Amino acid sequence: MVFLMENRSADCINPGYQDLYLKEQLRVKELEAELQVVRDQSRTYSRELSHIYQHSKAKKKQLADTNAQLVKYASDLSTTFLNLKGAHKELQESYRDTIFRLVLASEYKDKDTGAHITRMSRFSIQLATKIGLSQSEIDNIGLAAPMHDVGKIGIPDQIILKNGMLTDNEFSVIKTHTTIGALILENSRASILQTARMIALSHHEHWNGYGYPAGSKGEHIPLAARIVALSDTFDALTSRRPYKSPYPVDIACELIKKERGKQFDPDLVDVFLNNIDDFVGIKREIDEIEPLISSYDFIWSERDTMFPIH
Ligand SMILES: [Fe+2]
Ligand SMILES: [Fe+2]
Repeated sequence: MVFLMENRSADCINPGYQDLYLKEQLRVKELEAELQVVRDQSRTYSRELSHIYQHSKAKKKQLADTNAQLVKYASDLSTTFLNLKGAHKELQESYRDTIFRLVLASEYKDKDTGAHITRMSRFSIQLATKIGLSQSEIDNIGLAAPMHDVGKIGIPDQIILKNGMLTDNEFSVIKTHTTIGALILENSRASILQTARMIALSHHEHWNGYGYPAGSKGEHIPLAARIVALSDTFDALTSRRPYKSPYPVDIACELIKKERGKQFDPDLVDVFLNNIDDFVGIKREIDEIEPLISSYDFIWSERDTMFPIH
């Protein structure tokens, strides 16, 4: 249309239309100029779009690479975590085993058995759980409790192995197993050994302040030591010892009840007695023999007539 109009002479157009023709031609030129501008713009946009496309393509690849890298890191991390978990478990087991053997070495002298260590440790865990301690505190107490009497390794055999009554002098030597134990376990950075030291030092302290070695009172006695004191005594009362027969559970409970607020933390005694079935269950599980549940004609040990508890 433009072509046709351009090739026609203005002279051969009717003069009435000449003005209109010239206007039309002008308009055509304007349109062509606008068209050119639009074309140029389109080219520029197209170049920019191609640029953006290339850029986003590169970005997309970069993102995909980063994502793949992250997935690999996550997988490596998970493998490392599993390896660490395995190593941690193995370390914990060897730690437990070492403690058990160390304690056996000291308890061997005292003629206590490995079963005593296992039972009193399980009782301590149970009591710590029942009073709502955190899992790490419970684990610490469970691993540290077996070391409560480790200081007995420093007590002469003739006193440790004596079956009959102890003289006052012998008893004061026995008492030093608390401070000897604390010395053996001191200056460790491991929290289990720090707890173990506290327990070894304070498991013969009494709630009323009449215990040893420091005569500490009430909540000044570390909670872990109060827990172990009760668990250890319950096990000592209900087990056979060189100087005594096992006491029935109800007699042991009576003795513990009598010491509520004297030897033992009253709140711990309440929790212990309210959950006595759990503790008897643990004893049953470890000993694989029926514990003596109720009173019978048993004989008080010579020691217990003098020192009613442990
Ligand atoms: Fe002790
Ligand atoms: Fe013990």
